[in-house]
Amino acid sequence: MALPPAFLDELRARTPLPGLIGRKTRLLKSGRNWKGCCPFHGEKTPSFYVYDDHFHCFGCGAHGDAVTFVMRSEGASFPEAVERLAAEAGMEVPKPSAQEVARERRARDLHAVMAAAAEAYHRRLFLPEGRPALDYLLRRGLKQETIRAFALGWAPAGRGAIAADLRGEGVTEDQLIEAGLLRPGEAGDPPRDFFYARVMFPIRDRRGRVIAFGGRILGDGQPKYVNSPETPLFRKRLGLYGLDLAREGAFRGAPVVAVEGYMDVIALHQAGFAGAVAPLGTALTPEQLQELWRLSPEPVLCFDGDAAGARAAARAAEVALPLISTDHTLRFATLPAGEDPDTLTVRGGPAAFQAVLDAARPMSEALYGLIAEGRPAATPEQRAALRNRLSGAAAAITDKALAAEYRRVLLDRFFAAGRRGPGGGAAGRPFAARLARPAISAAPVQAERARMLFAILLRHPWLLPQAEEAIGLLDLPDGPATHLRAAILAWHGGVERVDSEGLIAHLADCGLEDAVAWALVPAGLPLAARAEALPGEVEEGFWHFFLRLRGEAELIEDQQEARRILAETNDPAAQRRLILLSEALDAVRRGEGAAGASGDAA
Ligand code: UTP
Ligand code: MN
Repeated sequence: MALPPAFLDELRARTPLPGLIGRKTRLLKSGRNWKGCCPFHGEKTPSFYVYDDHFHCFGCGAHGDAVTFVMRSEGASFPEAVERLAAEAGMEVPKPSAQEVARERRARDLHAVMAAAAEAYHRRLFLPEGRPALDYLLRRGLKQETIRAFALGWAPAGRGAIAADLRGEGVTEDQLIEAGLLRPGEAGDPPRDFFYARVMFPIRDRRGRVIAFGGRILGDGQPKYVNSPETPLFRKRLGLYGLDLAREGAFRGAPVVAVEGYMDVIALHQAGFAGAVAPLGTALTPEQLQELWRLSPEPVLCFDGDAAGARAAARAAEVALPLISTDHTLRFATLPAGEDPDTLTVRGGPAAFQAVLDAARPMSEALYGLIAEGRPAATPEQRAALRNRLSGAAAAITDKALAAEYRRVLLDRFFAAGRRGPGGGAAGRPFAARLARPAISAAPVQAERARMLFAILLRHPWLLPQAEEAIGLLDLPDGPATHLRAAILAWHGGVERVDSEGLIAHLADCGLEDAVAWALVPAGLPLAARAEALPGEVEEGFWHFFLRLRGEAELIEDQQEARRILAETNDPAAQRRLILLSEALDAVRRGEGAAGASGDAA
């Protein structure tokens, strides 16, 4: 039983070493310390030094503190030495409570029970009664050495087998019940075997000690797997199947991969993926994630390629977000639909799973899809809801700087997706979808238009309330434009005073100085981007560039919508919008460049 470190510290502090050691050998002052002839080896010239908190002999290497000194000089055990010194120092040695002693002894005993049980099940796999189970495992492609490495076993049908196996080792029924290997019988019935006619998968802790079992039915039937109940040794939310082997694997450089099932872990190890683990029939818990991070800064979570797999991945991301940091993150891998790592490696060999690993995406990339997947983003309400979710996900990250980076990445994706994003996709507008987006050759022109647009916005952020939704719809070229958009919209969402200086200072704080400089290069900027431009000029300039940035398909859609609104409301604003849209469409169809656009300064 370990003593509290604070007690030992105080004991050492209250035991002056020169006084204690001076009883055994004569000490002389040497500078701040003391020296004398070593009591542990015969010597005539002193090479034994005593310092404040330890002694050291330069002759024989003897070294230690007060407790060690008593142990060595009097042949005492550690507890005896502590007891003796404590008595002299007037201290009382803290006694472990009876409960603590009992708990420690029981855990030690239970480990022994579990180890003996695993051996017994394993032995039975190779007896005639275990033959069908062994054949089953071999038929599934497991090699003998794999079966040994995972210590797979067989729990026979028929009562009392495990109790009989372990009786010879002095294991009692009560211990078997505590270990979860027997269920207590009801109303005076004798206890029953917990595992009955099942292939046994010992579940081990990180140090390789058996703490539980999973048992699989032979062939089809329900439940397919049963796991040990929670016991003093086993909490299923904490363990990982394969952890002891994966620790070794990770140490040798194998990627750490979390998969779903026991058979997946086994098949992967056999295929050479020595870092594979699985949770124990639950979704990954925060504790299990922490365990993975003890092995690798960026473990891979591997999910099924179906809708359930996507949901599981989204849940895992949600659990992980508050825990990730600059040195602990995740990658997400997706299996081909209908395969698990076991079937994949059995059919396609290691290369098939390696391909899945190679395609794994970092958390920062996968997250957008995990959140946006299956959420419609067609209406402003839906888009705002999605945006809130994305911001919320970033806000869940504890590390502030990392949260800001994630927010930027997610919003960039959000705006880049525009109305073509998941759920808001082409399905709703089959006609428009068939039309061309701005051609690739027009890319420099589009980039220049985007620059004009942001130059105007940077000088006149008061436009944001009317322009915000529209900006979100634009299909902008990746780069400064998308960074500026995300940051400007985020700023607008949270700021009280909307002014140009404040905005530009904020963007600099976000590390977007270069993007601002890009937008504000004076050459070619329109009048509307000048600080002194009149509000009417500013609005006209903004919408001019906006309409030319939006693709033809979208403009046609907008035009149709404006026509419908005009017909319904007869609103003059709708009429003006329709005219602008029609002009813009004409301009886009003529392939007009930014430099030739009206409203330019030069
Ligand atoms: P799977 O059904 O994917 O299992 O469940 P598997 O490992 O691929 O099994 P095989 O290939 O059919 O033999 C994944 C995991 O979910 C838990 C187990 O931990 C299993 O490995 N599970 C599954 C249960 O706990 N109980 C069940 O009834 C089924
Ligand atoms: Mn399987």
